[in-house]
Amino acid sequence: MIPARRRAALVVGGASGIGLATVWALQLEGCDVVVADVNVDAATAVADEFGDGVTAMGLDVTVEQSVADVMTASAPLDVVVNCAGLSIPGAIAELELSAWRTTIDVCLTGTFLVLKHAAAAIVDGGSIICVSSLNARQPGTGMASYCAAKAGVTMLVEVAALELAPRGVRVNAVQPGFVDTPLTEGVGFIPGLRQDYLDNTPLGRAGTPEDVAATITFLASDQTAWMTGAALDIGGGSHLQRYPDVLDRVRALMAPG
Ligand SMILES: NC(=O)c1ccc[n+]([C@@H]2O[C@H](COP(=O)([O-])OP(=O)(O)OC[C@H]3O[C@@H](n4cnc5c(N)ncnc54)[C@H](O)[C@@H]3O)[C@@H](O)[C@H]2O)c1
Repeated sequence: MIPARRRAALVVGGASGIGLATVWALQLEGCDVVVADVNVDAATAVADEFGDGVTAMGLDVTVEQSVADVMTASAPLDVVVNCAGLSIPGAIAELELSAWRTTIDVCLTGTFLVLKHAAAAIVDGGSIICVSSLNARQPGTGMASYCAAKAGVTMLVEVAALELAPRGVRVNAVQPGFVDTPLTEGVGFIPGLRQDYLDNTPLGRAGTPEDVAATITFLASDQTAWMTGAALDIGGGSHLQRYPDVLDRVRALMAPG
């Protein structure tokens, strides 16, 4: 008897944080995983740590040819996860256009490019998961480009879900609240801000990358076979409260005296 093919997954932005935890989780589910990241050294270190079944590739979500090349080399894929993201904070009145463009390029245009080329690389019946954010639905001061980009990501996922449904390809988003990763390390340097996040999280703690990876794995599984175009809030209930005033905390830190 010919053994069934192992499921093949691609985790974009898989070298750190939520993406790295997703590599772990999908590998435990029995997937062969490609870790693709702009930080090639970090992706290679991840693949070396896992050994068989996990391979690394360099990929920059802002460069279409780079996304296309990795998708072509990894196809056929059963699961594609896009975790690549960054945030350059700043009040709208002061934000440099270049900073706005960098966040939009990575978070929003990057998601478009991943969806565009995943459409060709994924098998009929496959699952695509994009990491959006609590900020897709909650505005935060000093986070204009990130909030706008993530709102766009959640809407892009809905459009992609409609367009790929005839092939049985499901497209869903997760909208994490505050998760301890390298991306949020800076919060710890602004007095009071981390506590603000916790005060606005009914379950009373920050998320772990594994919390989010578990939801991504759920969306990658047959347990969600009838779910597409959804955006799952995974944030300890933080979507039910308000977003911290990040700019106010930063200004207090900068104030003389
Ligand atoms: N940490 C949080 O609180 C939080 C909350 C909501 C949403 N998110 C989202 O979760 C995702 C993962 O973030 P994280 O917190 O794990 O951060 P992280 O910094 O640990 O991981 C982000 C990864 O994306 C990669 N990346 C950045 N630019 C890239 C590019 N141009 N091409 C390819 N890869 C690129 C980085 O190298 C890194 O490995 C992001 O989309 C982020 O916006 C995070």
